[in-house]
Amino acid sequence: MRFGCAWYPEQWDESRWPEDLRLMRDAGMNVVRVAEFAWSRLEPEEGRYDLDWLERAVDLAGRHGLSVVLGTPTAAPPAWMTHRYPDTLLVRDDGRPATHGNRCHFSPTSARYRDFCRQIAEQMAQRLGGNPHVIGWQIDNEYNAVSYDEDTRLKFHDFLKARYETLDALNARWTTAYWSQTYDDWAQIPLPVGSHHPALMLEFRRFLTRVYIDYQRVQIDAIRQHSDRFITHNFMGWFDLFDHYAVAKDLDFASWDSYGERGHVDYVKNGAAHDVVRGFAGKNFWVMETQPGAVNWSAINNAPNRGELKTMAWHAIGHGADAILYWQWRSAPSGQEQYHGTVVGPDGAPRPVYGEIQELGRELARCADHLAATSIVADCAVVHSYEDRWALNFQRHHQDFDPVAHLGSFYRALRSDLSAVDIVPPSSVLSQYRLVVAPHLHILDDATALRFDAYVRAGGHLVLGPRSGMKDHDSALLPSRQPGPLSAALGAHVEEYYALQSSVGLEPAGEARIWAEWLAVDVEGTEIILRYGASNGWLDGQPAVVTRRHGSGRITYVGAWLDDATMKRLAKQWIAESGIPSVAVPEGVELCRRVGPRGDVFICINHTPHPKTVELAVPVRDLLSGQTCRGQVALAGYGVAVLVAV
Ligand code: GLA
Repeated sequence: MRFGCAWYPEQWDESRWPEDLRLMRDAGMNVVRVAEFAWSRLEPEEGRYDLDWLERAVDLAGRHGLSVVLGTPTAAPPAWMTHRYPDTLLVRDDGRPATHGNRCHFSPTSARYRDFCRQIAEQMAQRLGGNPHVIGWQIDNEYNAVSYDEDTRLKFHDFLKARYETLDALNARWTTAYWSQTYDDWAQIPLPVGSHHPALMLEFRRFLTRVYIDYQRVQIDAIRQHSDRFITHNFMGWFDLFDHYAVAKDLDFASWDSYGERGHVDYVKNGAAHDVVRGFAGKNFWVMETQPGAVNWSAINNAPNRGELKTMAWHAIGHGADAILYWQWRSAPSGQEQYHGTVVGPDGAPRPVYGEIQELGRELARCADHLAATSIVADCAVVHSYEDRWALNFQRHHQDFDPVAHLGSFYRALRSDLSAVDIVPPSSVLSQYRLVVAPHLHILDDATALRFDAYVRAGGHLVLGPRSGMKDHDSALLPSRQPGPLSAALGAHVEEYYALQSSVGLEPAGEARIWAEWLAVDVEGTEIILRYGASNGWLDGQPAVVTRRHGSGRITYVGAWLDDATMKRLAKQWIAESGIPSVAVPEGVELCRRVGPRGDVFICINHTPHPKTVELAVPVRDLLSGQTCRGQVALAGYGVAVLVAV
């Protein structure tokens, strides 16, 4: 386990560094991330590099027992560059260039900018890539910049040309006869600003994915020539500007920055965010940043309660995190983030949370051997695709149809009965799961449908949610009723869909809200699980959830956004039928399982400030308290137990 913080030696007099590092080590930390915004100190003038200070900081960290992750500073280009080369500056969607000084003010498509990035990454890697204290690299920081400059527009045209080859093909696939959007010159195609043609918007997201793959690759290639240490990037959880699966392919593993806006996290929501990040590269991940106190960017920057930091950290570990790093060690005296929570105060002395962090450091050390080489193994997967999310968000049809919240309604029900759930892209190997739930498989091509069909035939249980099988890869409506190529397997189709103004009752019990689809059964053998009660006349008495045996497996279609209790009831049934062992913990308590060579490690977390008791079938030892528990584990408010078999 790695445990540490973001440290900015460039902001402090060197005489202070030893004291910072001593305090970190005393807190049990073993890693620091440095340099990810330090470009103006690393290259004070064009082509003049100063890496001496960074090398001294890295070596000093190493002498204090701390390993180093080097961040490339490319999220914050220096003023000399943006001033001399305005073409490297980001242009906003209203056509105005960004002003210097708020970071991320660069155009990720600019060839000149990428060249500057390559050079600084190369300089850092040459100098420090083989340094014994450097364990890895973070490329840039939280990719999010989009530039609407002319060069980007031309590159978007090149991207479209490569995909469609001819304008005739593009015009046909986008039905551009609609609203006179027919293009007879590639140069006529705009960058989408605000709401626009859904195919154009979808392609722009695919283009941005390509932009970030290429942008990142320039730096990876530069580093790889001189360094064999891991390379990662700190993503932003559910952020959907680009396809994270595609961008993470070139990384050794994914990292993310996990923050709770108002000081507390909804642990199910945040657990899903950990799981989605674990899915980016399909393996354990790092929490590269998390808060040691309040954030500074929320409406009310409430701090986590006493004891809560530890539950947040163990929660991340329970979902597959191999590292927890606090952002940040100490506030810069000036600048935009003076109010953000830190580990030490403006006087350089520990803040009240330091003791809690120190205790966590001790706990991690105590569990390190047991956690080594452990990972999350799940029998149930929730399918998540950026393309589906983009397409749904472009045309929600009901303002509240937020695809992430919709996915969450399935995830919440499943996770409360399971010790692990994977969140994976539709392209992943389905046969490793006994239960696959696709909350909205909106864009569905024939090849993907065939894979899902084969999964069911071979014995899997596939659950599809509303809005599945509606569009093709070009965002065109399929010339069939939902779920399109999977309706034959289901033996049912969607007769009509409705955005709901108010909830609709379900028979025998439950409620549909936001969205309801009237399902029609096509063959004998398709069972109706739920029907709509009285509603708009159209839905009254019609099937809302149906299921059918298909080959050796089962396919189920949920045609509505269900209330939590109904979803939970159905999820319990799917889990039981799939033969997946379920867990029983009290409300507010979470049980996570990491599987490894020394056996399973169960992390049991009380997310509430109240004491809770968990019933156990077998005796276990709590690595944190050292006690053996028979029959029960008692958890204090925000308490955690890390359990292994005795
Ligand atoms: C992000 C950034 C950090 C810092 C934090 C503050 O995650 O990566 O540099 O600004 O937010 O919460």
